[in-house]
Order: sequence, then C-alpha cells, then structure tokens
Amino acid sequence: MMTQTKRVYQVLDLFGASKQISKAWEAEGFNAASYDIKSNKKHDICSKTGFMELIKLGLSLTDSALICAAPPCSMYGPACASVHRRSNDNVLGDLSNFKVRLARRIWVNFASFLHVMGKVHRSFHTLIEQPSGSWAYKQPEMVSVIAQMGLLLTVTWMAFFQHDMLKCTHLRSDMASVTQMYDHFEVRCFRRTFTKCLKQTVDMA
Ligand SMILES: C[S@@+](CC[C@H](N)C(=O)[O-])C[C@H]1O[C@@H](n2cnc3c(N)ncnc32)[C@H](O)[C@@H]1O
Repeated sequence: MMTQTKRVYQVLDLFGASKQISKAWEAEGFNAASYDIKSNKKHDICSKTGFMELIKLGLSLTDSALICAAPPCSMYGPACASVHRRSNDNVLGDLSNFKVRLARRIWVNFASFLHVMGKVHRSFHTLIEQPSGSWAYKQPEMVSVIAQMGLLLTVTWMAFFQHDMLKCTHLRSDMASVTQMYDHFEVRCFRRTFTKCLKQTVDMA
C-alpha cells in the first residue's frame, strides 16, 4: 500500500548548515526543515539516499511553502577561475578536475530536485542565492529550471541585511515580494549601506 507523506513544513532551508533561515521562520511560528551535509551526514545531495531524503522533505512541504537555497558557490566564482576555468565558450569548466565535477554534480542534482518538485508538487515558491559573478545560474540545467519556474533575478547587497560585507548578491525567485523588496527598504537603510560602501572604497584606496 502506498503511504502518503504528511505535508508539515512551510519552509525548506536547503544547504542551510547554520539553520538561520529555519530559526527565523520558526520564530514566526512556522514549521521549517533544513538540509545540509554539514549538519547531517545523510543529507548529501550527491548520494542516492541523500537525494531521496531531499525528495522526501520536498514532498512534506505544504502548499505555498518556500524552498530557500544557498547552494555552494566557491567552485563557480571568480576567485576560483583558475581552477574551474569556466568561460562563455565553456560554462561547464574543466571537468577533468574532481572539484569542478563535484560542484557540478551538486548543482545538477539541485536542478533535478527543483524539476521533480515542479512536476509533483502543486504549489511552492523558490528563492535561490548566489554571489554576483557566479557561473552557477549559467549551467544548462539551471537555465532550463529558471525558465521553467519563471525565477526572476533580483540584484541586491548583503550589507542591506546587516552583513559586514557589502558583497553583491543575485537572488532568483518566483516571489513577487522578493523583486519588490526595495519598495519596503527605508531610505535610511540605503544611506547607511552606501556610506559604508564609500568608506570601504576609501579604505581600500
Ligand atoms: C554557501 S553555503 C550555505 C550556507 C548557509 N547559507 C548557512 O546558513 O549555513 C553551502 C552549503 O552547502 C553545503 N553542502 C556542500 N556540499 C553538499 C552536499 N553534497 N549535500 C548537501 N549539502 C552540501 C555546505 O555544507 C554548506 O553549508
């Protein structure tokens, strides 16, 4: 007999070792699940059992739940360009390098997870975070999932969220509230960030 997974979570904090997202949602009275290899060895998106665990968590999301994901970015960023060797002519990079293959496997499985969720779940929202300059969104599987799910780009700065680093960040989401979030920022917040930005630029000079 087939057993149905109970839909109990309103948020999935995917790749969330610190559980900051889960904790914030739980503080607001929601049920949150987190998935990260650092906090649970079984949560390895590259292993068969780990991937199935993730599908199980995905199926236990309620309608209108949020999948909030910050997948690993280091092997996709400019700082590792000499290792991954990605370019516009070769977005997959140097696949002879194990680290590049592993980073790609994580993203391909993540894209497959979202693809499966799009097929089997009636309604959920997605929010993905990557530093600007990451090649991850340009991987063919992600290009296809982004188009399939209509994930719009929002360019923002970590400093807007009280982070010490300014760091430009690219969010991909199907939530209107994400693309409209600047409407809710106070002018004060922008002023504080840009003053900080200016100061850091001067400090670096
Ligand atoms: C960019 S960090 C995200 C950190 C997160 N925002 C937090 O609050 O801790 C990427 C995360 O992906 C996790 N990760 C790396 N490889 C993984 C894998 N194969 N399966 C599941 N999680 C993985 C890392 O442990 C790391 O915490």
